Amino acid sequence: MHTLKRIDVISLFPEMFSALEYGITGRAIRNELIELVITNPRAFTQDKHKTVDDRPYGGGPGMLMKVQPLRDAILSIKQTLGEHEAASVSKKKTKVVYLSPQGQPLTQNIVKDLSESKQLILIAGRYEGIDERLIEHYVDYECSIGDYVLSGGELPAMVLIDSLIRLIPDALGHNESALEDSFYSGLLDHPHYTRPEVLAIKDGDRENVAVPDVLLSGNHKKIAQWRLKQSLGRTWQRRPDLLTERQLSKEEQELLQDFIQEQKESNKREL
Ligand SMILES: C[S@@+](CC[C@H](N)C(=O)[O-])C[C@H]1O[C@@H](n2cnc3c(N)ncnc32)[C@H](O)[C@@H]1O
Repeated sequence: MHTLKRIDVISLFPEMFSALEYGITGRAIRNELIELVITNPRAFTQDKHKTVDDRPYGGGPGMLMKVQPLRDAILSIKQTLGEHEAASVSKKKTKVVYLSPQGQPLTQNIVKDLSESKQLILIAGRYEGIDERLIEHYVDYECSIGDYVLSGGELPAMVLIDSLIRLIPDALGHNESALEDSFYSGLLDHPHYTRPEVLAIKDGDRENVAVPDVLLSGNHKKIAQWRLKQSLGRTWQRRPDLLTERQLSKEEQELLQDFIQEQKESNKREL
């Protein structure tokens, strides 16, 4: 069940999070469906230069984020949330998540799991990352947005926040539904069409491309069936790995077989 009420982010660049002020995320924050609080660890430094980074032991290029400002930022947020440092993992309402290329690759299932925490504290790293001891002792979960390296954890944190906000009941308008998004049911989304009904294009022999008839039929049962078949077919074509992780019902198996058959026939016609 979705229980997330507040997300704290620890970042050296709080201004970057203004990107979340737009669209669905902005509306959810303004309507107080979620509280988003950004804390700059620089506010917790103890020297006059407000130093948050230092050289790595053992040498090598780049700098690392020091433990002390990050730790004090985490503890201060936990105190505001009424949680003690010593709380056992099972009693903790707050999960500390470090966005890191070395973390678990983010999936819709992980987003769902995280949306079941009451509060999250996200840490956006900078430089070459953060001192390992902070990760070992203060981080509950490490999460990556993909096998590539960015300059900071702000964009990954925003990716996670956006995907979490989509799951808040009432965050999406009447015409939008997270239930139909790709991955929600373990399948990719079906194709979508809007006006015009016939699109004039010049693509090889084709001059006009019409919306599939079934979508104009007004028959909701048939439309739902067509959409499910397209979802299954797309997943089979583009992400077969998702199908091996998901049990298909008898109806779904039949629809997928239909899709594969139609695909074979259309390939034959094109030869
Ligand atoms: C330049 S990266 C550090 C990379 C680190 N030296 C490594 O190779 O694991 C700086 C920060 O960006 C964030 N970051 C970069 N790529 C990321 C990814 N794919 N997923 C999540 N966070 C990422 C992390 O917060 C990281 O601390």
